[in-house]
Amino acid sequence: MIRIAPSILSADLAHLADDVARVVEGGADWLHVDVMDGRFVPNLTFGAGMIAALRRLSDLPLDVHLMVEEPENYVEPFADAGASLFTFHTEATAHMQRLLDVVRKSGMKAGLALNPATPLNCIEEVIDDVDLVLIMSVNPGFGGQSYIPAATSKIMRARRILDQHGSTAYLEVDGGISRDTIGAAHAAGADTFVAGSAIFGSSDPAMEVPELRRRCMAEV
Ligand code: DX5
Ligand code: ZN
Repeated sequence: MIRIAPSILSADLAHLADDVARVVEGGADWLHVDVMDGRFVPNLTFGAGMIAALRRLSDLPLDVHLMVEEPENYVEPFADAGASLFTFHTEATAHMQRLLDVVRKSGMKAGLALNPATPLNCIEEVIDDVDLVLIMSVNPGFGGQSYIPAATSKIMRARRILDQHGSTAYLEVDGGISRDTIGAAHAAGADTFVAGSAIFGSSDPAMEVPELRRRCMAEV
């Protein structure tokens, strides 16, 4: 199963409802919401208000990616706003296991994101507590960056770890995913693909969703 998660970061916020409708029409599986606090990353974006607005616009799962310090502060407000998946960075908290547990108890799925330089081994320690592993294929903070080629082997290694432990967690990749890079990420074992500029920067966002899906298949 291939999941395509358009990133709202690259949508036209003046026409958010139209852009969401386009990707829904194109068969998007999830909507990816990038929350940045201007501290963990040098950029500031959305909070619970955006999640609540998207919740009213669509029934799709809201895949919330927190690039924030102190992610524990956002569990309750984001659950209340209608987030479906809550993915925080391993680098942002000293108490990953506790936070994963709190997220699940709130009714959301719990995800762990890893920056490009962060080793994979920490996921083994909490593998039973994780519903999603997010491999960053750019350094987080901005849309429109280039896919870091080393991410492909990291995805492969993450796939192996999940399989070895019998984990059914989603394996998501985020950053620089496009027609040219999605095939390699898929072949490496990712099943969920975030794409911002590739979708909303295209002339036809609705058609770009199935096109990305097709590129996954073409690689196999
Ligand atoms: C980057 C964000 C991404 C971003 C991806 O920090 O986490 O989700 O929206 O944008 P593209 O697909 O343009 O690299
Ligand atoms: Zn993201």
